[in-house]
Amino acid sequence: MLIVGIGGTVSPVSSSDQALRTTMTEISRLGADTRLFTGEFLKALPTYDPTAPARTAAAADFVGELRRASGIVLSGAAYHGTVSGMFKNALDYTEDLALDSPPYFSGRPVGCIAVAKGWQAGVGTLTTLRSIVHALRGWPTPYGCVVNTSPGAGPGSGLDGARDGLCLLAGELYQAAQLFDSRATVAAK
Ligand SMILES: Cc1cc2nc3c(=O)[nH]c(=O)nc-3n(C[C@H](O)[C@H](O)[C@H](O)COP(=O)(O)O)c2cc1C
Repeated sequence: MLIVGIGGTVSPVSSSDQALRTTMTEISRLGADTRLFTGEFLKALPTYDPTAPARTAAAADFVGELRRASGIVLSGAAYHGTVSGMFKNALDYTEDLALDSPPYFSGRPVGCIAVAKGWQAGVGTLTTLRSIVHALRGWPTPYGCVVNTSPGAGPGSGLDGARDGLCLLAGELYQAAQLFDSRATVAAK
């Protein structure tokens, strides 16, 4: 079972990257193979062009791994109350899955993590991530995680405060991916 993680920024100390890695490490501990697409990779992706005749090798690899994945984890930093342009550009590549059968993220669980310097942008960005997943016909896990990186944000804030929530999300995602995979196998027989 492959779980793909997308997220992080180009910051050398990216907290959305760290939140993603904590989650993916837990998913790997549970037994899945993992593949991460993080800041520098996302930065190098060309602006998505639906009319382009061909993709770069990196973009084709990215889309291929998304196609193969049993589940996906999205870890987005909040930029001005929503996801960053670089992160959204990567998600725009899911349009290459539009004609798949089934399309986009159908039949796959998706864990959503929003990282912000305040609760308001964190909650708003988590809602945005879930809306994107719904548009892509994926299944957001019941638990979504907000990480508030503002110093002095109080109990439950920061990466340490979010650790239990990230592991909870990882467990739900792994369990759902197993369930969806077993149903798909039965349906194919
Ligand atoms: C361009 C930009 C816009 C941001 N906008 C918001 C915002 O609207 N609300 C907020 O709480 N934090 C905002 N932040 C703070 C980031 O969400 C926060 O620092 C987060 O931890 C960044 O993720 P990173 O550590 O992975 O780079 C913004 C940061 C940047 C660089």
